[in-house]
Order: sequence, then C-alpha cells, then structure tokens
Amino acid sequence: MEILDGKVVSQAVKDSVKEKAAQLKEAGNKTPHLAAVLVGVDGASETYVASKVKNCEEVGFKSTLIRLDANIEESVLIETIEKLNADEDVDGILVQLPLPKQINEAKIIGLIDPAKDVDGFHPVSIGKMVQGLPTFIPATPYGIMMMLEHYNIETKGKHAVIIGRSNIVGRPISILLNRNSYPGNCTVTVCHSHTPNLKEICLQADIIVAALGKPGFLTADMVKENAVVVDVGITRVADSTKKSGFAIKGDVDFAGVAPKCSYITPVPGGVGLMTIAALLMNTYNATLIKSTH
Ligand code: GUN
Repeated sequence: MEILDGKVVSQAVKDSVKEKAAQLKEAGNKTPHLAAVLVGVDGASETYVASKVKNCEEVGFKSTLIRLDANIEESVLIETIEKLNADEDVDGILVQLPLPKQINEAKIIGLIDPAKDVDGFHPVSIGKMVQGLPTFIPATPYGIMMMLEHYNIETKGKHAVIIGRSNIVGRPISILLNRNSYPGNCTVTVCHSHTPNLKEICLQADIIVAALGKPGFLTADMVKENAVVVDVGITRVADSTKKSGFAIKGDVDFAGVAPKCSYITPVPGGVGLMTIAALLMNTYNATLIKSTH
C-alpha cells in the first residue's frame, strides 16, 4: 500500500506555478490575481477561503477577499460579480459555495465571465470539459487527476466507481476519468443515494472515488484487494481532544480500507491540498491566456 501524499504533490504543483508566474512577470506580464467572494460566516467555508488566499501569497499571486453579509440580497452579489468581471486586474473569480438560501447559486455561477471562471463551474466550462476542449477544470477533480498522474497510476481499461454525483466533484471526475486521454480511459460507474447494491458495485472497482460527504462510509468489506481509493470527504466531526473542537474526517474508513489498497489518499493531507493547488494552476492559466491574447 502506498499513500497518495497530497502534501508532496500539491507542493510540487505550487512550486511549478510559482516559477511559471515569476517567468510570466519577467516577460512583462501581470501578476496573477484571484478574487474570492465569501457570503456569510460558515466555519468550513471561512477555513477554505482563508487557505486559498494564503496559498495565493505563497506562490506570489495577488488575492482579494470580498466578504458579504449572510443576509444580502442576490442583487448585491450580482453587482459584485459584474464589478469583478469588469476589473482588468482580476484574472480569476471564485464564489465560495454553498451560498445562502435566498441566492440562486446557478444564476450566480452563470454570471461569472467564463474567461475568469477558475472554479470551472460555469456551464461554458463544463460544456467544454465534457467535449474534451481546453478549459478550466473544477479544482477538486483537477487535483485528483494531477495526483493520479504524479504517481503514474494506470487508469486505462480500469473500472472506476464514483460515489456521489455533485456538480463540484462526482459528475466532473466521472467525465474526466472516462475521457480518451491519460489519466482516463476508465469504464465509469457513478453511484448515488438511490443506487442499490452499492457494495457489490464497489467490490468490482479498480478505482474508487468517495465523494458523498459521509464520514467513514467506505469500509473494508466494500473494497477489492489492490484497489486505488481516493477520499474526497472533508467533514468536521466533533472531537473534544482537538483544540478546535473538531476533527476532519474523510468518507473512507482509512484504518480498515488502507491495508487492502494499492494506493490511497489520506484525510487530511490528500485531495484537499490538491484542490487548492489546482485552483492556483487554473488562476495562473487564466492570467497566461489573457497575457497571450
Ligand atoms: N465549496 C466546496 N468546494 C468548493 C470549490 O471547489 N469551490 C468553491 N467555490 N466552493 C466550494
């Protein structure tokens, strides 16, 4: 069993992004600039956005954090997006999800300029991804692909089982693993809350991506020997032994599953770190495309 180490791979990606951004600047172009919008004060979202901003600094990017009150009307967020779209200095726009109930998430995502859609959630980005055209790939699936590539994991002809069909992870990773390129060429099964025989399907998997948000859901009896297991879960679970009062738990029962795997991602220290590295890569690419057009 080998650990797919998000710390190592994300650092390699960040080092590369940092170097490429420095070269872009040396050639007379601008510094990449990510604008993140956070609506409300959800604890987990605060942590993610703070980490995204901190990572921008680490690689020499400019970042702007826009905080909006949880009770704002949708029109306020729309105006914010329109301003960021028009701002020549902003290369990437990220609206942290989930948004409060009064705001229509799909409408907001649809208003982001696709050239600045570094989350890859805009229908134009998704459409291009489905067709295999160059575009921004959503950060978590993109991070998983970079991880598989870094460890040279064979994917061609493998059966990949995805648990979860969210727009952010499950659906896009199912499309990417099915594409006719590396990593890809998998036969993909997408499972969800209405899938019967989930255990039997998982037992047929060479690669499992657990992205359903239920701590410890995937147990050893659901995993075949030598499977590759990618754990996308990052749920906060109360833990009085921690200073923060919570521990971060993945969707995989790591202690039970890991001994059966050929490769497995830990939580924390796995996919979460890759998500941020992928976002930085998307932001760099947004700046590069702008600089060369
Ligand atoms: N919420 C959970 N994951 C993500 C992500 O990758 N991007 C954004 N914007 N919000 C999220």
